Amino acid sequence: MRVYLTGFMGSGKSTLGQSLASALSYRFVDLDEQIVKKEGLSISEIFETKGEAYFRVVESDVLQSITGDKLVIALGGGTFCSDENIAFIKKTGISFYLYLNEDELLTRLSELKDGKRPLLNGLDKAGIQSLINDKLRERKDYYLQADYTVDGTLSVESLVKLIKHQLK
Ligand code: S3P
Repeated sequence: MRVYLTGFMGSGKSTLGQSLASALSYRFVDLDEQIVKKEGLSISEIFETKGEAYFRVVESDVLQSITGDKLVIALGGGTFCSDENIAFIKKTGISFYLYLNEDELLTRLSELKDGKRPLLNGLDKAGIQSLINDKLRERKDYYLQADYTVDGTLSVESLVKLIKHQLK
């Protein structure tokens, strides 16, 4: 069994993933971290030096090279937005979309200034808002193909309970 977590940047996939993995006694895998390890560059450096198209190829390769079972995998915000990746994810596990609306994402992403998200680099609040609107419009139909959509505003504790229940 593999559990995949998808959703927009800042929706809490990694935080939830760690708690969920420990509650299930599964191993936690953060896809972005695996990409950083493989490339020896930060996500921002990959975007800057090699471009987003290159990042997407590596992201897909790294996803498909994950081995093992009993895993909780936090995907990147764009991983679930490719038919090829979705097909692989559906073949190998169950997926949960951590849904937050535009306003909730804006609040979270405006507070997040860790420099780890190249798509947000250099954007002010209005810029973040238009990025969220544009990307969500493009991505919504992909995210909604996840097996379950869950309310990302719930506490991590409630989400863990809810997901554990769905897995029974
Ligand atoms: C991206 C989300 C990021 C990371 C990269 C691109 C996206 O992951 O993969 O910066 O396209 O939404 P998080 O969702 O973990 O921030």
